[in-house]
Amino acid sequence: MSYAADSGVCLDRILASTDLSGLTKKDATTFTRRLKAHFPRLFEKYTYVYGHQYDCYFHLQKLVEILRDGLKDRKAALKKLDSERLDSPLWYRDEEQVGMACYVDLMGPTLNDLHDKIDYFKALGVTYVHLMPLYDAPKGDSDGGYAVSDYRKVNPTLGTVKDLERLAAALQKEGINLVLDFVFNHTSDEHAWAKAALDGDKQYQNYYYLFDDRTIPDQYEHTLREIFPQVRRGSFTFNEQMEKWVWTTFNSFQWDLNYSNPEVFNAITSEMLFLANLGCAALRLDALAFIWKELGTDCENQEKAHVLIQAFNCCLQIVAPAVVFKSEAIVHPDEVVKYIDKDECQLSYNPLLMALLWNSLATRKTRLLTSSMKKSFAISDDCTWVNYVRCHDDIGWTFDDAVAHQIGINSFDHRFFLNQFYTGRFEGSFANGVPFAENPSNGDCRVCGSLASLCGLEGALENNDAHGIDEAVKRMLLLYGITFSIGGIPLLYSSDEIGKLNDYSYRDDDSKKHDDRWVNRIAVTNQDTALALGGNSPSTPAEVASLRVFNGLQHMIKIRKQHAIFGQSKTHILDTENQHCFAFLRENAEGQKLLAICNFSEHPQSLSRSILATLKHSTSTDLLTDETVEINSTALLLAPFQQMWLLPA
Ligand code: GLC
Ligand code: GLC
Repeated sequence: MSYAADSGVCLDRILASTDLSGLTKKDATTFTRRLKAHFPRLFEKYTYVYGHQYDCYFHLQKLVEILRDGLKDRKAALKKLDSERLDSPLWYRDEEQVGMACYVDLMGPTLNDLHDKIDYFKALGVTYVHLMPLYDAPKGDSDGGYAVSDYRKVNPTLGTVKDLERLAAALQKEGINLVLDFVFNHTSDEHAWAKAALDGDKQYQNYYYLFDDRTIPDQYEHTLREIFPQVRRGSFTFNEQMEKWVWTTFNSFQWDLNYSNPEVFNAITSEMLFLANLGCAALRLDALAFIWKELGTDCENQEKAHVLIQAFNCCLQIVAPAVVFKSEAIVHPDEVVKYIDKDECQLSYNPLLMALLWNSLATRKTRLLTSSMKKSFAISDDCTWVNYVRCHDDIGWTFDDAVAHQIGINSFDHRFFLNQFYTGRFEGSFANGVPFAENPSNGDCRVCGSLASLCGLEGALENNDAHGIDEAVKRMLLLYGITFSIGGIPLLYSSDEIGKLNDYSYRDDDSKKHDDRWVNRIAVTNQDTALALGGNSPSTPAEVASLRVFNGLQHMIKIRKQHAIFGQSKTHILDTENQHCFAFLRENAEGQKLLAICNFSEHPQSLSRSILATLKHSTSTDLLTDETVEINSTALLLAPFQQMWLLPA
């Protein structure tokens, strides 16, 4: 005989002993209705991970109470948004959507100052602003805010929770969504949970992975990847006060949370709902690949990590269905796509496209980009990519070795070449990048640098090389142009839009100098925004270039928003028969089409017109220049770094 637990019976029992009297009648009805719809899934996920523990039911009941309280705290305006988003759930696939990620202190410098930047966002066409972690964090090094000491408190140097809510509302009023980080793999060692653990509280020690000696850490470390080898070797840190080893995947002050403990799942759900209730449209799931540990594996992308994220997703559906998840999985492409699902993460960064755009720029070749996108670009219709070129982190070369091998590329050598190229160690390279996290054991390395410096603007300005400056600007526009057109939400990284150069000042700051990612965390000043908005005329070659980048991006964004084809439509990656060119066709349910062709080389390239046949039209218009292109004339010519967005006339 076997007994299978029934989620319906379980929910009835939980509801029978859950006090809903604190909810309004309407909320109580909504709550029970949503629970009925989503509890079966939540039950399945939760018991899959925690069912073998004697107190699973107890924690499940507590979780339902946390969800109830989350709904109780949700403001009326956000509940209204919940129903609107439930009616049009695919808003994130819209051509209107354009994102920007920024650090509050680098753009504000406070939350209140950001109100003055709303016009700037609007001028550029931004509809989604991701404010990098703005929570209370240790003074000095806090991994750029990714070591959170209190999810419910804004870092006092940036403002208060009230300020954040006010900003969220102001942005919402202008049609701009707020995106916040959900840093849930770890807390800082100054979080109240960590402090209690430090004081010897057993309950809170169970919130983290603590070990009395090296026996178990050594077993795990056989198969773990080192994320920040420049900071510390291995993934564990000895804590003197507790005399224990702590699991610290990232910096030593970032303590990994122990998700094998259901109390941790519940506690962090409560924090997540607090963030959702601040009024954000999406939560960025930071370092989500690392949340489940399994001995003998690399402890990344484990099955139970997925199950837990799906369980978090159920919780959101019940309390704050307007909020979606954005996956930050900077891992093997086959693993990246596994997080993308309506019931897991609706949005996902596209690290493969990002890395391969840079690859094509260095090699002037598109084969790896084309074959990789053919394999990995298609995802479920109810989800979308977040396509980016640069971000606050390093660039890791996360392409699929098997795909590279098929086209004759040796991955190890090729990654070595890319690192050399982008750190300027390769002769003839246009890039000014900085090596990051070099691993002395295996030679691994990643690259940091701003869009402009990696595209060659820094070197060209230094050499007063007008032609080099022109090429650098064109490279920047080419890369971003692809993110605007290929399908998904393009995400600008603030300071890219005005082509700012590497900022080396971190080298003078003791809390930053060991982390070269600071080279690409760059302030956007009021002077910069005034220049971009036409308030100041450019007076230096750097300013002229800045303005060209800004105007170029603004122009492309404007075009994106005018054509539904950039929104909900399919993408077919095409072969171009020219190794320097990349092309794709967009096609929507109404039968509209758009052909994008891009030249990654500094020389003009010709393409056989047969590619135009995919449009099935004799005449088309290049939306970027408004020029007419005839199918029947001789070869199609692309200028250096030119891209065309061809719409059948
Ligand atoms: C993510 C963040 C990165 C941070 C890490 C640990 O990858 O983007 O900046 O260091 O998570 O939180
Ligand atoms: C991540 C990634 C790693 C990245 C780092 C931040 O989560 O897996 O590749 O570079 O954190 O620097």
